[in-house]
Amino acid sequence: MHINYQLPENIKELLNTKRNEVKPAFAELIRQGGYVPPHMDLLIDAISILSMGKNILLKGPTGAGKTKFAETLSYLFNQPMFSVNCSVDLDAESLLGFKTLAYEDKKQVIEFVPGPVINAMTSGTLLYIDEINMAKPETLPLINGVLDYRRTITNPFTNEVITAKEGFGVVAAINEGYIGTVPLNEALKNRFIVIEVPYIEGEQLRNLIQTNTRLTNEKTIELFVKLSSDLVTAVSQGKLSEDAASIRALLDACDLSSIIPAKRAILRSIVDKLDEEREREFVMNLTETLF
Ligand SMILES: Nc1ncnc2c1ncn2[C@@H]1O[C@H](COP(=O)(O)OP(=O)(O)OP(=O)(O)O)[C@@H](O)[C@H]1O
Ligand SMILES: [Mg+2]
Repeated sequence: MHINYQLPENIKELLNTKRNEVKPAFAELIRQGGYVPPHMDLLIDAISILSMGKNILLKGPTGAGKTKFAETLSYLFNQPMFSVNCSVDLDAESLLGFKTLAYEDKKQVIEFVPGPVINAMTSGTLLYIDEINMAKPETLPLINGVLDYRRTITNPFTNEVITAKEGFGVVAAINEGYIGTVPLNEALKNRFIVIEVPYIEGEQLRNLIQTNTRLTNEKTIELFVKLSSDLVTAVSQGKLSEDAASIRALLDACDLSSIIPAKRAILRSIVDKLDEEREREFVMNLTETLF
């Protein structure tokens, strides 16, 4: 889905300078857009940060559109985006690449297959680091030099010193406080500029439901927007855990309710994911009053 964002002229110019650079390699990694910002400032700030060669850390709850946001930046800059998914298994090889045996004129040679960080650096494109706080604390410091003004790394597999090409940029995403996450190391956090990504509400949410789900009934869409707003309020009052208001789950419920009754769609998409009986009851009661 491509959205025509109402961006100020100077920001459009920033995008155009980048867009016009020829990028034949990795064109298949230019992503689709579609992020609906709660406020245009989010996009303006992100574009400004990236165009200055600084790193962005998107911070927000699950299903708030962080990945979509990053993909939209790739779309807007018309730049391929490599991506790394962090987990406890993330190691130097999955970030930087690995050595393998290959044949050259029937002779065996050792070849280095670059990973996402090296690829993005050498092609001067974007790198998306998802769930950055899921990695083991000792792994990411490997790329500290890549993330600061040096934009450089000594590839431990080849001993080659690699400096990022113009255009290289990093967007990371973090989902604080979830099971399996570790607090982000200060030195790492320090290398990013933070953009908070909240759940969208109201008019923007209505548009997203209309354009991104199978739900067409205006009255039902309105009720889902109201449900979402009540869920967000309950989260802010500490009555529900944050993911109860996830837009991802809400969109699933909207999709399903184009076929099955809305109440059951909500039960499956939102309620049954909640851990505590008290929370499940709360959302079911809310649903009863609305649908
Ligand atoms: N503001 C938004 N604009 C566009 N799509 C959105 C928005 N918020 C949520 N979505 C939709 O909700 C779903 C989840 O979004 P996405 O995967 O980007 O969330 P996330 O913040 O990366 O979640 P997680 O932390 O679980 O990875 C996608 O289908 C996405 O299109
Ligand atoms: Mg994501």
